[in-house]
Amino acid sequence: MPTITAHESSIQKRLSELHARHRDNSSGQVATYIPELAKSDPSLFGIAVATVDGKLYEVGDSRHPFTIQSISKPFVYGLALADRGRERVLKQVGVEPSGDAFNSIVFDERSNRPFNPMVNAGAIATTALVSGDSYAHRLQRILDMFAHFAGQPTEIDHAVYTSEKETGHRNRAITYLELNSGMIEQPVDDHLDLYFRQCSILTNAAQLATMAAALANNGVNPRTNKYVMAPEHVRAMLSVMASCGMYDFSGEWIYRVGLPAKSGVAGGILAVMPGQFGIGVFSPPLDERGNSVRGIGVCEDVSTHFNLHLFDKQIPAAVTLRRSYRGTEVRSKRMRGSRERDILNQSARAIQVHELQGGLFFASMERVTRQISADLDDVLFLVLDGRRVTATDFSARALMADERATLAAQNVRLLLAGFPKSLQKELTSSEDTTWLADEFFETVDEALERCEDLLIAEGVQPAEEDSALSLSEMEITAGLDESELTQLAGIITTQEYTAGQRIINEGSHADEVFMLASGQATISVRIAANRQAKRLGALGVGVTFGELALFDGGPRTADITADVPTTCYVLPVDRLRTGPLANSSLHIKLLRNVGRALANRLRLANAEIRALE
Ligand code: DON
Repeated sequence: MPTITAHESSIQKRLSELHARHRDNSSGQVATYIPELAKSDPSLFGIAVATVDGKLYEVGDSRHPFTIQSISKPFVYGLALADRGRERVLKQVGVEPSGDAFNSIVFDERSNRPFNPMVNAGAIATTALVSGDSYAHRLQRILDMFAHFAGQPTEIDHAVYTSEKETGHRNRAITYLELNSGMIEQPVDDHLDLYFRQCSILTNAAQLATMAAALANNGVNPRTNKYVMAPEHVRAMLSVMASCGMYDFSGEWIYRVGLPAKSGVAGGILAVMPGQFGIGVFSPPLDERGNSVRGIGVCEDVSTHFNLHLFDKQIPAAVTLRRSYRGTEVRSKRMRGSRERDILNQSARAIQVHELQGGLFFASMERVTRQISADLDDVLFLVLDGRRVTATDFSARALMADERATLAAQNVRLLLAGFPKSLQKELTSSEDTTWLADEFFETVDEALERCEDLLIAEGVQPAEEDSALSLSEMEITAGLDESELTQLAGIITTQEYTAGQRIINEGSHADEVFMLASGQATISVRIAANRQAKRLGALGVGVTFGELALFDGGPRTADITADVPTTCYVLPVDRLRTGPLANSSLHIKLLRNVGRALANRLRLANAEIRALE
């Protein structure tokens, strides 16, 4: 028995316990109808679990080689689907459970095809569909496909192959009956030989777990990170495994274990927990239906212990609007001049933000759409904040696209902020929608800023837009009389910055105050660990920045960079602090206005904290 060490992971311990529990169950018989298989050692027993991120847990004889047998069937089915397409394959092989043994000679007479690709008749017809220029080419394609799934080169056990070829008269009979009924075409001896060879491919429990994990991982082998099968074919493979993978035990298996699986007469079983992991078990003694006795026991225990039955998966629909607020309660971090602020005070109610939380699936997205329509009064922009969305599925994305169209018909624009990049990719690549890149924002702040800009653009006369504001229109110059304005004009300089040009450098000495006359600038700080810039906010026309220089002149705390060609009036603070203007009415009014602007910002920040509480 494998020893359990103190530092073993809990999964490893659980597998060792499972192994110990089933090891002494000696019921069942090794397969004898293929003479070579009769030589198998009934005490061999290995278990492996592979996760979708490539971790492999193993216990017992998990690397002992044995022939894959019928576990090859769903994989060759995937290859046939990839080669011929779904319609052609469905025409030749059905997907109905037959309720019969794996080697039964019964066909779906009405459709003139075998019942499903998991019984021998269907598997042979499936192998007949694998493309290639020659027998050798077809064989190579089958071997390559298994190598990709297992992440290792494929080998055939020639003794088992020869043994089955010499004794496989029943399969030969099935093949010729299929030829006779027009279910398959020549060269049937090639098809049959390929089938015997695919059954004789050597594998082990660890490889089976890896192959199962590739199915769980939507067709990407998690140990090699290679794409091995298209997701739509993986879904088809899992479907036939779920309905027919365990032959005349399939109904009971899905009822009790609830996972798609496939067994083989050499004693292998492979089971898949979609999206999570794959299991491979090897133990040669079989029950009367040809399924490994210990393999069934292990899978049943794992499923029960961890409650893995697929129909137990109740995805919580309780997503959920974590919080909702209007643009009047939370503003973007862009500092705006008084004119822009006035416009937003009037109009920012038109921005509605909903923060979502949890997984977005059909039921939860439906609930969100209901909540959206419950509060659309005066709304022109609807921002969905997806930072806390943990997952989305196809149905949620489809509903999201429908919601966008419904809102557009009511003149409401839907903007998505903070969602995972994959969602944007999936929405924009979908054929029947017309999502645009500018409907997606990395942060809610950027989305808010965009909505505000659009509201301001509507509220501003076009003529006013481009021209630089004069000195008297600055936030900091409110209330200055003519002579004070003249004094100020005498000490400032006008500076032009190109897009991307740095205006203030973090850490530099603060000895100037800036007034933004035209253009726009971004405030960012460099995060200590990697010196990456984090955007804190933006500065708009009329706004004063670097104003703390008026008080203490310490080092600058952030970088300020022009986003577009930008003009600033620059005030050297020394000219106010010393000389004839020190403590003048100009100096005092400027200080008072700076104080007022700071108080305004604090008020907005407090309102925001209240809205986000
Ligand atoms: O067709 C046969 O008889 C075998 N080579 C494969 C059958 C098989 O593995 C059935 N599974 N339980």
